[in-house]
Amino acid sequence: MYCTRNVTESIIWVGGCDRRLALFENLFPISRGVAYNSYVILDEKTALIDTVDSSISRQFLENIHHALNGRSLDYLVINHMEPDHCANIEELMLRFPNLHIVGNEKTLALIRQFYDMDVEGRILTVKENDTLSLGRHTLRFYFTPMVHWPEVMMSYEENEKILFSADGFGSFGALNGALFSDEVDFDRDWLRDARRYYGNIVGKYGPQVQAALRKLSGVDIRMLCPLHGPVWRHDLDYILGKYDHWSRYEPEEKTVALFYGSMYGDTENAVNILAAGLAERGIRNIAVYDMSSTHVSELIAEVFRCSHLVLASPTYNNGIYPAMLNFLHDMKALNLQNRTVALIENGSWAPSSAKQIRTLLEDMKKIRILEPVVSIRSSVKQDVMRSLSELKEKILDSLSEKYGI
Ligand code: FEO
Repeated sequence: MYCTRNVTESIIWVGGCDRRLALFENLFPISRGVAYNSYVILDEKTALIDTVDSSISRQFLENIHHALNGRSLDYLVINHMEPDHCANIEELMLRFPNLHIVGNEKTLALIRQFYDMDVEGRILTVKENDTLSLGRHTLRFYFTPMVHWPEVMMSYEENEKILFSADGFGSFGALNGALFSDEVDFDRDWLRDARRYYGNIVGKYGPQVQAALRKLSGVDIRMLCPLHGPVWRHDLDYILGKYDHWSRYEPEEKTVALFYGSMYGDTENAVNILAAGLAERGIRNIAVYDMSSTHVSELIAEVFRCSHLVLASPTYNNGIYPAMLNFLHDMKALNLQNRTVALIENGSWAPSSAKQIRTLLEDMKKIRILEPVVSIRSSVKQDVMRSLSELKEKILDSLSEKYGI
């Protein structure tokens, strides 16, 4: 049976949620599920904005037929050709013989790469700033490449001033009945997953997100309709501000996230001592993560939040502890930059992980490394306590500076 929500009187959400999928992109844990959004526009002509993942096709098709109420579908606008939004193109072409697919040159190339369907005579190719009139509603197309794939465009409906923003402004998390961000406690229940989604899915493409924000800055947007997560109809500046921060690689908070690998609890002990000392001196919202039991996507999200990072790693096979190495690889791959970092190493006979981490950090942009490096020989002793205290003071000094490196 259908399950839809009205976005406005003539625009209907026809998406759905998957709470069974364990790993988004077969990589990222999604304990809160994920929503795949799609929207029908009813006018003299009818249009569908993107489709959904194959996992929810049955619900999606029931939703479309309910929204159309016996009418045919004239246009399918493909803002993003990633398969989590494109699984139903062929089925829609079969169900609606007069359906035309609206996309750009890159969209069409990807359709041919992913699928074998015959789209001859069914394609409407658009260019930047082209418009498509549906009657009272007009869609204008803004190309926003690499937010998150090269073909991505956003469709702006000029009459109701709604931006269909593809992956932009999306989030992990199933919708649980609520469609709009003002129907949930976003800060409490959604921000963490929105940040994790941005950081891990789109985070590498900060300059391209900045380009998209600049392009859209002169557009009068009253509502943001992403392909994942809640729709924004109030306080758009909140999520636009987050995207501006994240895509500039500027931290949201001046605080410290401490990440450790620890085989027998001694490196963890040093991190706990440092974290407690920082909290005692008034630093709020400190986070401590055991890298071996926390998914790397959570760690990456915290880098987007926090200005200061403490990386604490045993020396393992004369190298960096594997969980830390994986994290550093992800940081580099996602273009993370502009952070202040402190290092703690441990090694029972030849501690060298800090030196190797430093080399990797020096290959990233605008990373400032604080001294001293704390070097532990097996377990925390008085000399290490003194080093930790000295490092704590350096972190506090750095936090009290106007942020900038
Ligand atoms: Fe939700 Fe880039 O696809």
